[in-house]
Formats: sequence, C-alpha cells, structure tokens
Amino acid sequence: MDQQRHLQLKAIEAYAGAKLGADKTGHDTAHIRRVVCMAERIAHEENVDAFLPTAIAYLHDVVDDKLVDDVSEAREELRDFLENLGLEAGQTDEILHAISNMSFAATLDAERPRLTRAGQIAQDADWLDAIGAIGIARAFYYGGCQRECIYDPAVPPRKHLDRAAYRNLADETIINHFHEKLLKIRGMLNTEAARRIAEERQRFMLEFLDEFTAEWTGDR
Ligand code: ADP
Ligand code: NI
Repeated sequence: MDQQRHLQLKAIEAYAGAKLGADKTGHDTAHIRRVVCMAERIAHEENVDAFLPTAIAYLHDVVDDKLVDDVSEAREELRDFLENLGLEAGQTDEILHAISNMSFAATLDAERPRLTRAGQIAQDADWLDAIGAIGIARAFYYGGCQRECIYDPAVPPRKHLDRAAYRNLADETIINHFHEKLLKIRGMLNTEAARRIAEERQRFMLEFLDEFTAEWTGDR
C-alpha cells in the first residue's frame, strides 16, 4: 500500500478511535481492531485490494443508530473528514454507503441492501466477530448491558424479525438471540473465505448451546 493510502488509513483509525474508544456496548476499539484484521485477511484471500475493506471496517460503527444520537449529522461529519483526507468522491460514497447498509438490522428490511465487494468483505468481517467464542462473549456482554435475562424456556425465539422487533428487547433473552441471529449468520456471509472461517465458530456455538441446555435441564 503506498504512503498516501497508509497515512489515510492511520487518520481513519484515529477518527474511529476518537468516536468509539469509550463505547461499552461491545463496539470498543478491540472489536474494531479484530474486524479490521479480519477484513484484511478476507480481502487477501479473495484477491481484493484491502484499502476500502479496511477503511469501511474502521468506520463501520461510527454512524450506528445505537451509538450516536443524530445519524445524519454523524454521516455528514464523516463525509467532510474523508473528503478533507483526499479520498476520491467515489471512495467516500462507497464507504458511506457500506457503513449505512451493512448491519444485520439492515437485512431485516424488506430487501437486503446490495453492497459493493469491499462492503461485503467488511460485513463478513463484522459478522464473524458476532459468532464463535467472541460472539458468545459479546452476546452475553451486550445482553447484560440491556438487562436481558439469560434464558427463559417459556419465551420461544421469534421467527419473523423485522428491524423494530430486533431492537425491541422487552422479552428478549440472550439464548434466543442465538436462534434469532447468531446461528443464521453463517448462511448469510458473502465470501468463501468468511464461510470457511465460520465453520468452526458455528460448531463451537452449537456445542455451547447443547451444553447449556443439558446443564439447564439437569442432564449433565
Ligand atoms: P448489527 O449492528 O450488525 O445489527 P449489533 O450492533 O446489533 O449488530 O450487534 C452488536 C453485538 O451485540 C453483536 O455481537 C450482537 O450479536 C450483539 N447483540 C445484538 N443484539 C443483541 C441482543 N438482543 N442480545 C444479545 N446480544 C445482542
Ligand atoms: Ni461491528
């Protein structure tokens, strides 16, 4: 990667750190770092230039409606920042489009948004961080912050989730979140590279749920 692009990514990293550094809902700097590493890895395996996937990965949570009060203001501020960095207009648009449309919640709207290849890679990287051992840890951390209960056998997982239902946590349990989202991610990934990585993570989550249920019911 040439010097200018390297400096642009450094500035983008600092911008994301300043916006999300203090977040305590699981979108912290460590999450961003893992997603960036994963985006670079997938881009490499898929033979795609890593610049845009990496930039999107750094920025993917800075306009999240859970984290900022005014999404369109956050988007405009980011646009100004990227244009001042010297990114081409097309690159700025692609980054903004990706980060506004790549969340799991966005797939619950009538039609799943189409992403560019760079957006797809960043989405896969973000979603891989929601599954496996780290995904389990993040679900319990987030669910705890939201005061969800761990499990309630009387509350079945919701079959048809729309965006409003996904964000309505009134009857949500952390175990149901696995059935409503986490176990579905493997089948929704965009790239072969991500699908390969998801295999072991899926197996691990299923084993965890198995063990959890066995202990809950007294079978183990
Ligand atoms: P997205 O923005 O892609 O829709 P989120 O930002 O909602 O994803 O999710 C961030 C993290 O919190 C993920 O690891 C996700 O699985 C977890 N999470 C989201 N909603 C819940 C929930 N209701 N209960 C437990 N964990 C959740
Ligand atoms: Ni994320």
